[in-house]
Amino acid sequence: ALQLTLAVVKPDAVAHPLILEALHQKILENFIIIRKKELMWRTKDSEKFYSEHAGRFFYQRLVEFMSSGPMRAYVLAREDAVTHWRGMMGPTKVFRALFTSPDTIRGQYGLTDTRNTTHGSDSIESARREISFFFPEFNADEWMVME
Ligand code: CMP
Repeated sequence: ALQLTLAVVKPDAVAHPLILEALHQKILENFIIIRKKELMWRTKDSEKFYSEHAGRFFYQRLVEFMSSGPMRAYVLAREDAVTHWRGMMGPTKVFRALFTSPDTIRGQYGLTDTRNTTHGSDSIESARREISFFFPEFNADEWMVME
């Protein structure tokens, strides 16, 4: 079915204009872009978004990294958007991405398990929650294609 997902280009990738542009092209080829914006988090935004990981060994570095520079967020639509974008991203762990999925986004551009280029919602329910976190004014029940 037609779905929405949230895709985020993380600070490591936004810092490199050529990577940012390559990711934007990949997104254009695969999805209809419903919303797009640049933003930067404060530490407290990062802590709130990743609160489910509080206490994990990587939480502090994740929180610091995600508020270390500008990001770009997209609301994307297509058939099975959630799994399609997760497939394009590849595995979270950079070692696995490099050796099992070198054609994925993280396989190509991931630096570490934390600096892993992109984020994507892992279910329809998290897509809803995460879209409203990034785009509070967005109405998931009444969206239209703008372009
Ligand atoms: P993301 O898809 O944004 O969701 C949670 C994030 O936590 C993940 O991408 C990584 O950036 C980070 N993360 C998950 N597992 C690890 C790990 N083992 N070591 C470091 N960072 C991790």
